[in-house]
Amino acid sequence: MCGIIAYIGHRDATPLVLNGLKRLEYRGYDSSGIAVLNGNLQLLKRKGKIKDLELALEGTHMPGKVSIGHTRWATHGEPNDINAHPHISSDGKIAMVHNGIIENYDVIRKELLTKGYTLESETDTEVLLKFIESIKQENHFDLEEAVRIALKWVVGTYVIVLIDQERPNTLIAARKGSPLVVGIGDDEYFMASDALPIVDHTRDVVYINDYELVIIEEGELILKNLGNERKTPLIEKLDLEIAAIEKGGYEHFMLKEIYQQPDTIRDCFRGRITEESSSIQIRGIEDHLDKFVSARRIIMIGCGTSWHASLVAEYIFEDLCRIPVEVDYASEFRYRNPILDSNDIIFAISQSGETADTIVALEKAKEQNAFLFGIVNVVGSSISRITHAGTYTHSGPEIGVASTKAFTGQLAVLYMIALKVGLEKQLLSQKKYSELLSQLQSVPKKIETIFETQINNISSIAEKYCQSQNCLYLGRGYQFPIALEGALKLKEISYIHAEGYPAAEMKHGPIALIEDNVPVIFIALKNDECYEKIMSNIQEIKARRGKVIGIITEGDSRTKKILDEYIEIPECDPVISPLLTVVPLQFLAYYMGTKKGIDVDKPRNLAKSVTVE
Ligand code: G6P
Repeated sequence: MCGIIAYIGHRDATPLVLNGLKRLEYRGYDSSGIAVLNGNLQLLKRKGKIKDLELALEGTHMPGKVSIGHTRWATHGEPNDINAHPHISSDGKIAMVHNGIIENYDVIRKELLTKGYTLESETDTEVLLKFIESIKQENHFDLEEAVRIALKWVVGTYVIVLIDQERPNTLIAARKGSPLVVGIGDDEYFMASDALPIVDHTRDVVYINDYELVIIEEGELILKNLGNERKTPLIEKLDLEIAAIEKGGYEHFMLKEIYQQPDTIRDCFRGRITEESSSIQIRGIEDHLDKFVSARRIIMIGCGTSWHASLVAEYIFEDLCRIPVEVDYASEFRYRNPILDSNDIIFAISQSGETADTIVALEKAKEQNAFLFGIVNVVGSSISRITHAGTYTHSGPEIGVASTKAFTGQLAVLYMIALKVGLEKQLLSQKKYSELLSQLQSVPKKIETIFETQINNISSIAEKYCQSQNCLYLGRGYQFPIALEGALKLKEISYIHAEGYPAAEMKHGPIALIEDNVPVIFIALKNDECYEKIMSNIQEIKARRGKVIGIITEGDSRTKKILDEYIEIPECDPVISPLLTVVPLQFLAYYMGTKKGIDVDKPRNLAKSVTVE
């Protein structure tokens, strides 16, 4: 989703901001632009990729030490040069970039039109900028004051960053509901939607909170609230390596991230599963163990792939901890008037920690005194700061839009928590606990076995089926959410229509779709308690000439015989198996997408971090 980068300092700002925009590309966007102060205010915007902006810049001289840049993911108005950010005030002196949505923009727009303002674009951003300008002019305020007053009227979410020809050594920014990080270098400052464009230059950062205003002027960082009171900025150290945000020889970030999973899962366990593998120690849980043990109910919320991790967790927690679990899309939870109290634990699961729907749902749950626990990948992100406690997945930056290693990281954390709570509640014997813990620790090695033995096979299957128009993914129990995740991966990056279903539900509808050009992907593990039933489901598809691809247990010759194609995975306890079965489905989607020539890291219309509701 929209990305912001801004610079003020002693260096040539345009190339710096352009490189920052490249770092933000992964968030998903459809146009981009840069504005720079150099006595005048110079602006360049282009629909399309950053390379289109770069090409346009080659023939343009844009010197200056203060600049703002933006990648836009269209909300109000189609992607084109005019709707792209930055936007410019009527007097041509102020430029602004914005991430978020101004919900009352139409009321403000009408008021501006009555006052004689003209609007060039269809965006809510231009409306907000001209609203700020009108306040500035009518009251003879300076820009900072006008921003503060305007934001008191605004309904919605925003990060805005402004530059003003009349204050040429100043950057002004404010945040509510969308992320903003400030990087502090040597006599220079950076602002960005996340830390990725900043880590190239400095590791000292300040995470800006909602309703805060940042003014960088004459080399000083001033932090205020909207009431104009000064606050002390909390400087934190970024723990991020540049190599972690580059492709490292892989053709796509997505491929790199799939291959990283044995290591990211090991990193997730590191320091949490003790050396002698006898116990699990997770700070976020340790400090609140009594809450987990006495929880009346757990409610899991998330979006997209993180919602699928929540669905797996429903099975895990009910099996191992006997705690009732509800799973909800964050966007639905928020609006269904949930009934909560302090005995409920809300798990917010999110890779980015910035998903607007999840954040708003958490705020709702907080009002009703529920205990909020975050499972988040991005350190310092909004969800990690608004929850009462939490655990990081430590999967490292995930750049590919389609989530892979973050999902297995989320599952790894959820397994550790469930095992710990199950043991503490004496629902798991020490023997069962040790067995499952050792199964969990064997997962990275087993994923490596899939890499060693199945990649060519998966690539040939993808070659054969990548022109399909529709696919079905079926699984039961623990594999049902994995079927959903497999289908989501496929549609995200190959644009093939795919549905995930519980295998038994097939006969209640999806079976009508079966014909010989609709591949059906079954997850059919030999030690699954529904194995025989799944075999019958496969036969039902075969009887209708459907093509069946099976994710099966290594060496299961009986299942192989009835399948058109199969992908074998090492044997594993059914409870832990989702960590393995998802991996071939990630590869299958990757190869189907790349064989169709799709840029799987930046599939159309999708955003990595969805910061609007
Ligand atoms: C977007 C991404 C998905 C992700 C979802 C939730 O839709 O494209 O990959 O699963 O947001 O994101 P979160 O950061 O909250 O896990």
